Amino acid sequence: MPFPDNFLWGAAVAANQCEGGFLQGNKGISNTDVITRGSLENPRQITYTVNHRRQKTALMNMENIPEDAEFVCFDDETYPNHESTDFYHHYKEDIALMKDLGLKAFRMSISWPRIFPLGNDEEPNEAGLAFYEEIFRGLKEAGIEPIVTINHYEIPIHLTELWGSWLDRRMITCFLNYCETIFMRYKDLVHYWLTFNEINHVNLVPFLAAGITKKDPRSLAVASHYELVAAAKAVSLGRRINPNFKFGCMIGHTQAYPYTCKPEDIYARWDFMSRCYLYSDVQVRGYYPTYQLKKWDREGIRPEITEQDRKDLQAGTVDFISFSYYHSGVQAADLAVLKMTGGNLSRGGKNPYLPTTEWGWQIDPMGLRMALIELYDRYQKPLFIVENGLGAKDQLVNGRVHDPYRIAYLKAHIEAMMLAIEVDGVELLGYTPWSFIDLVSAGTGEYRKRYGLVYVDKQDDGSGDYQRYRKDSFRWYREVIRTNGSNI
Ligand code: BG6
Repeated sequence: MPFPDNFLWGAAVAANQCEGGFLQGNKGISNTDVITRGSLENPRQITYTVNHRRQKTALMNMENIPEDAEFVCFDDETYPNHESTDFYHHYKEDIALMKDLGLKAFRMSISWPRIFPLGNDEEPNEAGLAFYEEIFRGLKEAGIEPIVTINHYEIPIHLTELWGSWLDRRMITCFLNYCETIFMRYKDLVHYWLTFNEINHVNLVPFLAAGITKKDPRSLAVASHYELVAAAKAVSLGRRINPNFKFGCMIGHTQAYPYTCKPEDIYARWDFMSRCYLYSDVQVRGYYPTYQLKKWDREGIRPEITEQDRKDLQAGTVDFISFSYYHSGVQAADLAVLKMTGGNLSRGGKNPYLPTTEWGWQIDPMGLRMALIELYDRYQKPLFIVENGLGAKDQLVNGRVHDPYRIAYLKAHIEAMMLAIEVDGVELLGYTPWSFIDLVSAGTGEYRKRYGLVYVDKQDDGSGDYQRYRKDSFRWYREVIRTNGSNI
């Protein structure tokens, strides 16, 4: 079998999408707390007031939000992340389910505003620290390795109102303060850390990914640079606190194909891929690739990169590359030739050879194999697939959820991983499919777009009692883990 004995079979979630516990335990308000429910047809909205007047801006393809906006929740809107699937109150039961599943690893995130409610508080919030400590102790008892994302789409909204979030260099200090607090507290309980979830997605959803309210190219470049410096400094800081920590970058990866073999289409494909390779290039190699510096110079938007920044980036390179992979896409020199379809916080060119999910995401296990080959070839560092899965409208009937479509999706992607390891020689540390348990969709804010191996009775109309049910995919994945991938 290609999978090594210590392969980290896992499953993933993010705090903002599964925890709930809004304002409980002194939690502060985050950017995701002011985003409404949406659907495939109706985009999620960011809500705020300007001079006490109600305003809304669509999350995807957002318009710039005025600098004096005050982010608020309106009584007549629904904010699904406030409740999510209530991991906050069910974590003990959920860890027992993880143990039953046989998980070796659990990818989760810490909510920054649960630890620092405003983001720049003098002292951390003990209730928040104690909450995660209990989870990590529970995971340890269950023999499950936590893989912790330090920042998964959750910025204390106070920092957006104060400085425009990552548009301001002072964010680095706040972020490092938060990192130091959690590294010190959990240094014997957590060993694997991911810095920013899908750091490249600041370009797709600036408010969700980075809490910023502007989307012009210079703002995106500045925010990206500060996040990259903060990530590198966090790595160096963590290594000083515990030399055994392992750090990964986390990239949202879409494997793209050229529309035709026309050289211009091949270049367009490369240009698209470079927009996400930029981030892993910096985090793995420790310096900006020349293609990006040239691009910024051409556009006149190069952010200020100080001598100290260069040293910090060089010092804080990562141990492994983690990434999400859900679908592939198609790129062309002339975008008008493409038929468009859905994708992860984005839209992309349609590929006539691939089936899609109900949300239009193109199912392509071979794309995962090629992503693994390309990333390993580029960096020669271990890889970790920390998100991969199928969003579908599952039906709970008599306490059972039959989800053969999810089993088929996961099986095909695990087979692609096997080939990448065995035939192509890729070094893969683990696999944490999205998601361990049903949660709120990041893109549409729905419950009915379910990814979990565990079903949660919580519905978009607000009904449901949060009861947990093992889906068929849970039982199937348990066997995969038990046999270390030999019985899929
Ligand atoms: C990734 C995110 O982009 O994709 C997750 O890291 C997200 O937070 C996942 O939930 C699936 O996307 P969606 O929009 O279907 O929830």
